[in-house]
Amino acid sequence: RIELGKGYLVLPGMVDIHVHMREPGQEYKEDWRTGSRAAVKGGVTFVADMPNNKPPANTCERLAEKLRRAGEKSLVDFAFYAGFSENPEELLRCPELFVGGKLYPEELFSRSAAYFARLMAKLGKPLVVHAEDPSMFRESRGLPHSYARPPEAELSGVRRALRLCGEAGAWVHVTHVSTGAAVTELLSAKLSGLKATFDVTPHHALLTDSLYSTTLSRIAKVNPPLRGEADRSAVYSALARGLPDALVTDHAPHSPEEKASEDPPPGFPGLELALHLLLSEVLAGRLPLGVIDLYSSRPASLLGVEKGAIAVGMDADLVVVKREEWVVRGDEMVSKARYTPFEGWRLSTKTHAVFVRGRMVYAEGEFFEDARGSLRAPRGAPERWW
Ligand code: NCD
Ligand code: ZN
Ligand code: ZN
Repeated sequence: RIELGKGYLVLPGMVDIHVHMREPGQEYKEDWRTGSRAAVKGGVTFVADMPNNKPPANTCERLAEKLRRAGEKSLVDFAFYAGFSENPEELLRCPELFVGGKLYPEELFSRSAAYFARLMAKLGKPLVVHAEDPSMFRESRGLPHSYARPPEAELSGVRRALRLCGEAGAWVHVTHVSTGAAVTELLSAKLSGLKATFDVTPHHALLTDSLYSTTLSRIAKVNPPLRGEADRSAVYSALARGLPDALVTDHAPHSPEEKASEDPPPGFPGLELALHLLLSEVLAGRLPLGVIDLYSSRPASLLGVEKGAIAVGMDADLVVVKREEWVVRGDEMVSKARYTPFEGWRLSTKTHAVFVRGRMVYAEGEFFEDARGSLRAPRGAPERWW
């Protein structure tokens, strides 16, 4: 039994359409059990998982294997993206196993990108793009990570993605947009009628590259990198105005040992904090409550999975949030990646209870693991947002 009353808020379950659960292949970083626990603790009831597994999830067989793993271990509902390959036609055999295709920077600038884009267009699925131009990357030589991957590389990546959109007729969704210039470019592309959507992350909206000269430098290494104050503020304002189509964490766990090393891999966990970072900004009067839609109803209808809304006939995917002041500590996380660039942040809300399809999977710090999530294939065509 849970007590509801003053200081509690019932919201639709959050929908995170960019996470890395790392299974199969890199279970030492995260697996579907620990990753979905992190989701639940952050009030998230549906995740869409990226294909950069080892080996990449770019065939029907590998996607089916991921489905077996997630189906056994995930506490939340899920969907997958299909990875790029030189022979993507075989993906036509299993369209029910993925909600979109994914292109990483080198793949985006490869000759076969347009072919992959046309295939996704044929299937009516979004082509999710990490838009950075690798030809503009620089040797960091001990300089901050933001020096190695400058803002211009993102703008060039976005332009390349928009060309694919125009030429291949693909619906391009640019993920983790981190600069003001890229936001502007995407908004004007939308206005001109291109099938383009985009998302932003809490870290690019709330943190800057000033972290690269602190003890959190290695932990804060991420792609695209944290930017200067002007770009951070541009991303934040876009969010405050509801301009992006979604907010995503890009939950990218690596082992604590890897992140402590001389040359750490990019990425950090995000699922446990995103909703509470947003709500704390809302309670401080800096963001409208409607920002929650970007982390629930809008990404759900974007992918056509109809998750995370309180309405008659919808699944009861709910999160009960309570008001509580607390301080973020990486070592209290349930992800295998027990660190965060938000270390020491003071937040004003916590997850009290979570329901996935009407079943309680979490209440007051306890997980009920007999409940299982399942694959969510789009019901009919995804909503058209462009
Ligand atoms: C991601 C990862 O670790 O898989 N890392 C990151 O810095 N964002 C890859 C990615 O999303 O580009
Ligand atoms: Zn990326
Ligand atoms: Zn990612």
